[in-house]
Amino acid sequence: MRYTPFGTTGMRVSRLGLGSMTFSRKLDADAAARVIHEAIDHGVNLIDTADSYGQSEQYIGKALDPATRSKVFLATKVFLAHTEDPDTKRNSAANITRAVEDSLSNLRTDYLDLYQLHHPDPDTPIDETLAALDGLIKQGKVRHVGCSNHYAWQIAYTNAVAADRGLPELVSVQYDYSLLRRVVEVDLEPYCRMFNLASMIYSPLAGGLLTGKYQRGAPPSKDTRAAMPMYRQMLAGLESDAVHDTIDRLRPIAQGLDLSLNQLAVLWLLGKPWVTTVLVGGAHSEHFTSLYDVADRELESQVVEELDELTADRTAVPYWNQPFRFAPGMAGQRVLPASPGTPPQTPPGVPPQVPPTAGS
Ligand SMILES: NC(=O)c1ccc[n+]([C@@H]2O[C@H](COP(=O)([O-])OP(=O)(O)OC[C@H]3O[C@@H](n4cnc5c(N)ncnc54)[C@H](OP(=O)(O)O)[C@@H]3O)[C@@H](O)[C@H]2O)c1
Repeated sequence: MRYTPFGTTGMRVSRLGLGSMTFSRKLDADAAARVIHEAIDHGVNLIDTADSYGQSEQYIGKALDPATRSKVFLATKVFLAHTEDPDTKRNSAANITRAVEDSLSNLRTDYLDLYQLHHPDPDTPIDETLAALDGLIKQGKVRHVGCSNHYAWQIAYTNAVAADRGLPELVSVQYDYSLLRRVVEVDLEPYCRMFNLASMIYSPLAGGLLTGKYQRGAPPSKDTRAAMPMYRQMLAGLESDAVHDTIDRLRPIAQGLDLSLNQLAVLWLLGKPWVTTVLVGGAHSEHFTSLYDVADRELESQVVEELDELTADRTAVPYWNQPFRFAPGMAGQRVLPASPGTPPQTPPGVPPQVPPTAGS
């Protein structure tokens, strides 16, 4: 396993991090514990979870004894409403202060190494969010704060306000990045490089498309992510000839290097020096371990360049995991289109939003 600085924090993290979104959805507590310990045995020292990943926080808390906990960096996120108030805003002080207590209790720990805003919250003034996060850092409950699914301008604005008010800046961002989804290279990734934010990559296999297991023109088999209604955005990929054409061109390159497609996809990400850590996900232990097996391997730079060229058109795919609002009076519910094809209602000045998948 290789390690790298986590932005400006002083932490050194493994370049493969453990993603836990499937815990309690695909992996029961025992299987999740096995996956956690296998990750640690392979040198992974960063575990990512979220309040919205089912029982994931609880499973992690149960699997880690105090000695093991001190060896890993724990990162979680606030997304759900944690108060009785049905109008609770996601990143409000009231919600964040309750949410962090819930996460600490679920994870059976006194502190979180990284606390992330899972999505931007257009309904809470950023000063309020930052002041709440500042309080958590001062109380020792949180060491660093980060975000995910933010545009570069949203982080730039947040951190400018933070610098102006003497409040904590966001040190990291999680984004969707893979050989099939390279839109972040347009501005989020250069922004992170310029300001030394840690880049945490999620969905490195585009949710499983980059395993090559989905066949062109065939419906996904029912045990796969693409068959789950909450991941309906994957269907667009399955129905796209361009996606299948790209995968077909990647296959022989992987074979020529004696790698499986998923290994090639992750090694391409690790070949990008600005990528801090790639969050690996899986529904079975082997999905994770097959990636640890190649964690020390490096692709030659001309292979990285070949893959860059082969997937150059994938920088033009739109973001799909967009900021969105809670419906008024429906804490925890997302504003979804009234009927397929009808855009969600948004106030003037707010870009129309694609309904995202639940809890990702
Ligand atoms: N911040 C955010 O908004 C956000 C969003 C998404 C994820 N994340 C984080 O990033 C982590 C990883 O994301 P991800 O799960 O989307 O990653 P991913 O690697 O793109 O997708 C993982 C899924 O692909 C399939 N898969 C993986 N390896 C396979 C193999 N060898 N053979 C066949 N199928 C395989 C499995 O799904 P099936 O077997 O079910 O098909 C698995 O659950 C998450 O756990 C979470 O921590 C964050």
